[in-house]
Amino acid sequence: MKALRLPAFGAPAQVPELVEVEPATPGPNQVAVAIEAAPINPSDLMLIAGDYGVRPQLPAALGAEGVGRIVAVGDGVDASRIGERVMIVPTLEQGTWTDQTVVDERNVVPVNPNADPLQLAMIGVNPVTAYVLLHDFAALEPGAWVAQTGASSAVGRYVIVLAKHAGVRTLNVVRRESAVQELLDAGAAAVVVSNEDFSEQVAGALGGAPLSLVLDGVGGEPVTTLAGQLKVGGAIVSYAALGGKPIVVPPLTLIFRGLSVHGWWLKHWLDSTPPAKINETYRELAALVADGTLAAPVDATYPLEEYRAAITRAQASGRHGKVLFSLA
Ligand SMILES: NC(=O)c1ccc[n+]([C@@H]2O[C@H](COP(=O)([O-])OP(=O)(O)OC[C@H]3O[C@@H](n4cnc5c(N)ncnc54)[C@H](OP(=O)(O)O)[C@@H]3O)[C@@H](O)[C@H]2O)c1
Repeated sequence: MKALRLPAFGAPAQVPELVEVEPATPGPNQVAVAIEAAPINPSDLMLIAGDYGVRPQLPAALGAEGVGRIVAVGDGVDASRIGERVMIVPTLEQGTWTDQTVVDERNVVPVNPNADPLQLAMIGVNPVTAYVLLHDFAALEPGAWVAQTGASSAVGRYVIVLAKHAGVRTLNVVRRESAVQELLDAGAAAVVVSNEDFSEQVAGALGGAPLSLVLDGVGGEPVTTLAGQLKVGGAIVSYAALGGKPIVVPPLTLIFRGLSVHGWWLKHWLDSTPPAKINETYRELAALVADGTLAAPVDATYPLEEYRAAITRAQASGRHGKVLFSLA
């Protein structure tokens, strides 16, 4: 079987290598999963470059999340699970850019056998991020406003749908005009473009209503403006650095409104959340993906052999959705 692996940190489209390996046998409480689809996420590119929050021991298996079918089980796992379709929880304990991987049973969650494998493959990272960002930092009443930067990302689109589902309104910041209508169609209450009259657009969209929460994937000036619209006790949560600029909140805004600023990382959440809660959260999200409520646009799929083209495409700006390896 084939597997992509990382022999050294470096340029994401250059350093990974495709190797031929013998399929591993699952040990006690493990399952072997034949991968059907596995996305290329920004976090994978950061990990390859050596810029991520963890640097794995090399050579390292690649790919954090994916979906596939159980093809073998180890001692302690019910053999009737063979054939079951599962998503892989992205604990970084196993690779998914491979024909087959061995995973601890606690890191797989059953998913609908009839749903779109590409959408199922993407549950592990972005939908759960959107869900936790919306639920863990503010008690959001129906009608409350949440603002987010980088709203055209997959995370941003999941936030829009999950918020709407909960009766919460989203104010979405994008960098290009062409994303506005798409996000309104997806359920955004308002979409504003981060340009010269950004403050006026924000004030106009909110019409005097306060924000309860700001979710930031970009950093820079838009966050400063949005912080000025937060209610007393409101929170800013930073989860990505797409724009590479720091978050600046004027001290008097921070002080007199009693604002809080948080950093959030999925790995910390997976490491600190009880396994039953992780499992339950993924099952809930998997049901919403299976019935089509939650979806992310797909730009392109590639076989493992075309990994250089796949990674190059995943790095391109102006793509129309996610890039995945499709193995089935
Ligand atoms: N903290 C965590 O645990 C966690 C979990 C999940 C994701 N993330 C992070 O969240 C971010 C989004 O992930 P994703 O998979 O949803 O992304 P994605 O769908 O691959 O899309 C990336 C998005 O970033 C936008 N973007 C890129 N550079 C930008 C800039 N300078 N200013 C504004 N927007 C910019 C692009 O906007 P256009 O549409 O205009 O091209 C695109 O919508 C990534 O950085 C990822 O690493 C973090």
